[in-house]
Amino acid sequence: MVNTFAQDVLNGLTAKNKHLSSKYFYDDNGSRIFQEIMNMPEYYLTNAEFEILSMQSKQIIDALGFSTPFNIIELGAGDGLKTFKLLEYLVNANIQFNYVPIDISQEAIDILTERLKERLPGLNIKPKVGDYFEILKVNKESAYPSLLLFLGGNIGNYQEEKASELLSLFNENMKTGDKLLVGFDIKKNPIIIHNAYFDKHGVTKRFNLNLLVRINRELDADFKIDDFDFYCHYDPISGDVKSYIVSLRKQTVVLGALNKTIHFNYNELIWTELSKKYTIYEISNLAEATNFKLTSNFLDCKHYFTDSLWVK
Ligand code: AVI
Repeated sequence: MVNTFAQDVLNGLTAKNKHLSSKYFYDDNGSRIFQEIMNMPEYYLTNAEFEILSMQSKQIIDALGFSTPFNIIELGAGDGLKTFKLLEYLVNANIQFNYVPIDISQEAIDILTERLKERLPGLNIKPKVGDYFEILKVNKESAYPSLLLFLGGNIGNYQEEKASELLSLFNENMKTGDKLLVGFDIKKNPIIIHNAYFDKHGVTKRFNLNLLVRINRELDADFKIDDFDFYCHYDPISGDVKSYIVSLRKQTVVLGALNKTIHFNYNELIWTELSKKYTIYEISNLAEATNFKLTSNFLDCKHYFTDSLWVK
């Protein structure tokens, strides 16, 4: 089997403008650092979405307009903490539904399932590990309507074209009348956004540099972590937060497992992540471009974040 991590790292580090994909941030250690990020007061996204799902579950469920039992399919469920409030509302209101959390991590799914069975014994949970689209394809045959959840602002980590592709693929794997609830971080005072990603405690820096630690471990490389720094920049016009690793010296790194040497110039960058912010207008255009119709936006009280409800 081709090792796509090795291949992607090699392609990214030998490109003219070096880059690594943020999807590789999430090894066990990276996932723990991401939990730390979500607990930082500067990282407002988590609290904002938690508030939306805590305070507006009834409005969201009413807006679905489903008159039969339905499926809730969560794409990238992770620890499922924010979704808990929505599930709790449904169970307490005695509404009939199946909850299908999907994640690529078996461990994440096991922990989530155990926790939910304990805290919400009345919940019908059918966890799945694996590829989103394989599972969605099967779900398309279900006699019941579905609500797909793509939360946490994850869509912001895709470049515009890739985001459209992904949302169109969701659309193709849904039935007419199915709904998609997708979380978007909204353009706001640039200083607030800047502080969420360029945090003064250096947690986001650790999150980025952990990717080099991972490459050292998995690809037998010799990155000297102290010889690299972190920089990020928010462009309030495009809405792009771009994160980078900066080489603090002219240096050479060996990727032992690949038998390759990578040269870095003084201050050379590795682009690691895009975290795109949207206006409500841009969100509605994206819905239309991917064959959905925007039904309603559920915002937190500060209007920092929206869970946007779309219908196929
Ligand atoms: C997972 N994703 C939505 C986060 C974001 O805001 O782009 C990942 C992250 N990167 C730095 N801080 C958090």
